[in-house]
Amino acid sequence: METVLSGIRPTGNLHLGNYFGAVRSFVKLQDEYECFFFIADWHSLTTHPRPDNIRQSVKTILAEYLACGIDPEKATIYVQSDVREVAELYLYLNMNAYLGELERVTSFKDKVRKQPDNINAGLLTYPSLMAADILIHKANRVPVGKDQEQNMEMARKFARRFNTIYGVEYFPEPASFHLADRAVKVPGLDGSGKMGKSEGNAIYLIDDEKTIRKKVMKAVTDSGPTIPNAEKPEPVANLFAMMEIVSTKDTYDHFNDKYNACEIRYGDLKKQLAEDINAFCAPIRKRIADITADDAYIDKVARTGADKASENAAHTINDVRRIIGFRP
Ligand code: ADP
Ligand code: TRP
Repeated sequence: METVLSGIRPTGNLHLGNYFGAVRSFVKLQDEYECFFFIADWHSLTTHPRPDNIRQSVKTILAEYLACGIDPEKATIYVQSDVREVAELYLYLNMNAYLGELERVTSFKDKVRKQPDNINAGLLTYPSLMAADILIHKANRVPVGKDQEQNMEMARKFARRFNTIYGVEYFPEPASFHLADRAVKVPGLDGSGKMGKSEGNAIYLIDDEKTIRKKVMKAVTDSGPTIPNAEKPEPVANLFAMMEIVSTKDTYDHFNDKYNACEIRYGDLKKQLAEDINAFCAPIRKRIADITADDAYIDKVARTGADKASENAAHTINDVRRIIGFRP
């Protein structure tokens, strides 16, 4: 069976964009593939060398993943820093990673601009650590967004290079995996663009009913169409796009017909949308609260995941040591 792997940096709570853009597909994939999902806490040191309570951030995201339906019985869920073999593979990959190619990575150049006082080697070698994450489980498919394409190319390059240098066919080349037919871009409701943490327009899975209503009622609209079947300007199109994601087809069609007949009342649409978002979030919110209160359960999931991931990783590291010439 093919292996699927993906990682997420522990930065804050999950929002609807994360859910519909990524987590929902993880939940589906766990039924079809051998899956590894991990929390990339080492990676966060590249930007936050003294993380503020990193274990709490890791727990938060772990609880939210579980609440979304990632099932520790089906997938291996673990924390990167619990699997030390990753660091050893990172070391070997770095020996065959070249300054020129690392410096050319756009996200590195972005970070150099953003944090000129902390251009550390971890930032430069972010792609080798990410490749180590992937190759340690010999993953074939990696579901990630478009922004990770360059890191994925580096991972493939490092896999090929390892095979070439040591004359083996050991690491498979990991393919980026976009669930093209199912992937969605969740829009922001503030006029344009996507929903995102850094965009400051996110509706979080933990938001309560009142907060959701407030955020949706604030959404940008216009004075309404004056000609039938008019094309929707972006802010309005975004509201409809969100409705398409969380509401029933009947609800969507109802408001779409109203729009096309120039009879739309945005207040009604927003009220319905807020209700539908809340109906979607409410059970997840409840599970997040329950799981968060159960520290022992979260610990157990992390421990079990760490054991499973470490066992698999130890096999790879043994092979790699033997291939390079060290004592396995
Ligand atoms: P953020 O943009 O809030 O910082 P991240 O960059 O940490 O979120 O993204 C984590 C995952 O969620 C990625 O797989 C990304 O593709 C997905 N994602 C984030 N925002 C959206 C969105 N608005 N629509 C679809 N997917 C999204
Ligand atoms: N770089 C990824 C991000 O910022 C997170 C990540 C780290 C990752 N290691 C990974 C994703 C391995 C997939 C596979 O979103």
